[in-house]
Amino acid sequence: MSRERLTGMPDHTTGPTTPRLLHRAFTVDDAEAFFAINGNRDVMRLTGEPVLESVESARTAIAGYPDFRTIGYGRWACVLKDTGRIIGFCGLKYLPDLDAVDVGYRFLPEFWGRGLATEACAASLRYGFDTLGLDRIIALVLPENAASIRVLERVGMKRDGELEYEGLTALLYAIESRRRNQS
Ligand SMILES: CC(C)(COP(=O)(O)OP(=O)(O)OC[C@H]1O[C@@H](n2cnc3c(N)ncnc32)[C@H](O)[C@@H]1OP(=O)(O)O)[C@@H](O)C(=O)NCCC(=O)NCCS
Repeated sequence: MSRERLTGMPDHTTGPTTPRLLHRAFTVDDAEAFFAINGNRDVMRLTGEPVLESVESARTAIAGYPDFRTIGYGRWACVLKDTGRIIGFCGLKYLPDLDAVDVGYRFLPEFWGRGLATEACAASLRYGFDTLGLDRIIALVLPENAASIRVLERVGMKRDGELEYEGLTALLYAIESRRRNQS
């Protein structure tokens, strides 16, 4: 029986497919790939989050990640279709303190500059609007993270001020669904 029928919660553990990427939830078996991303100082430098210390802490983080169970959706592993390798993550996260849904992404440095974050981010936005029925999606980015700001601009997100979040000053970007704009 599907998880949806068992729990009543729609199953979004499989996310969008794009020309080059599959999206799916991380499992504990992905701990090494998760660590390769979140344990990499170059990846983490402008995220405002600490560098993960070990594969074991990656396993703990994946096992304790509540979002797919609690809110129904979350950040997905980005799997390169060509090779099956996990090369990053992208997806949606509900931020209770802002009562907003945030899009976020990280990729391994060797895959930067190929348009993959733009492809993944655009797919997450489409999924949020078309499948989840969201009205608005935000992104929080440090002002010095020029590559990420470029991604947000390329997917059509607009600057909507700045805010203090978890002790840092972040730029707020946002996009609204066409449905909301039409009503
Ligand atoms: C931000 C990140 C996801 C971008 O991934 P990516 O796959 O290289 O992104 P894309 O190739 O889709 O697009 C990057 C754009 O930024 C531009 N760019 C890259 N580095 C840049 C820089 N230092 N200054 C200005 N623009 C830059 C690229 O030229 C490209 O724009 P273009 O297509 O108009 O030329 C990647 O750098 C990353 O994983 N960074 C570490 C994690 C992180 O900071 N995540 C975001 C937190 S808000």
